[in-house]
Amino acid sequence: MKIIAYGIRDDEKPYLDKWSEENPDVEVASTGELLDESTVDQAKGADGVVVYQQKPYTAAVLDKLGSYGVKFMSLRNVGVDNIDADAAKRNGIQVTNVPAYSPEAIAEFTATELMRLLRRTNTFDRKIAHGDLRWAPDIAEELNQMTVGVFATGRIGRAAIRIYKGFGAKVIAYDIFHNPELEKEGIYVDSPEELYAKSDVLSIHAPATKENEHMLNDDAFSKMKDGVYILNPARGILVDTDALIRALDSGKVAGAALDVYEDEVGIFNTDFGSFDKIPDERLKNLIKRENVLVSPHIAFYTKRAVRNMVYFAMDANKSLISTGKSDKLVKL
Ligand code: COI
Repeated sequence: MKIIAYGIRDDEKPYLDKWSEENPDVEVASTGELLDESTVDQAKGADGVVVYQQKPYTAAVLDKLGSYGVKFMSLRNVGVDNIDADAAKRNGIQVTNVPAYSPEAIAEFTATELMRLLRRTNTFDRKIAHGDLRWAPDIAEELNQMTVGVFATGRIGRAAIRIYKGFGAKVIAYDIFHNPELEKEGIYVDSPEELYAKSDVLSIHAPATKENEHMLNDDAFSKMKDGVYILNPARGILVDTDALIRALDSGKVAGAALDVYEDEVGIFNTDFGSFDKIPDERLKNLIKRENVLVSPHIAFYTKRAVRNMVYFAMDANKSLISTGKSDKLVKL
């Protein structure tokens, strides 16, 4: 059996090599290149592909994989919004993801960014760099006095809830699916609007779907408390960036931590050499603000998560090839 792993970064390679040593029955090929029309030919002769990228898996790529008889594709990440589902189905390609490589990694990062916003550390760091060591006017807020609204209570949302509770915050949540434990605690509100109206902090942990594209738009912001904090470690497309900029300008939003951005593909995880060369004026507008923390999709990026992404995806692909089954199969 042969598996080709695409987009393997230097930090993933040792884990892939170790997995390969532990699975001598599998021929493992790897490349640092992403899976696209220019690289798909490298999958010829393989039984499965293991991939991670934010770039789309297009119909053209999936049709080619299908024509090479590659029917198993395993993602090393959670999100499946960049797959052309019709093309995957048409080609009989089964897809697995890694739903839980480390929900805690993302939750911990989100909470870290929230504390940075509340304690104004970005502002103080910038002031200190200019020799200004005064306190005022940058007085902070305390999370234990606040209500955090968690949008979506999957694994990551639940890990975030545990942390917010540890800080003594009141936590409420909205989700179409109610987690039985959280239900017992009476944590759920009935609608996104109720969540918006009652939250001092909004922590977004939903996957991207056709329905929730730009769910945080002008209308949603208008229903929130004045001075709300927005945390988005989920998907850029959930937030209408122009509406967020308007809400920051008006003071409706007091601060935002964005680990994702709707136009991040080709920008995040790239070195442009200088701030001026970042080719996105809207993103630069956000980065320049002291009350906005932009990070390049790194909430997931821990040793444990990267190890699990490689191992769980390789295991799932091997299982699909040898048995046709995997507990990580995605319904597209
Ligand atoms: C995901 O797992 O879907 C992420 O957002 C993390 C990143 C590897 C893209």
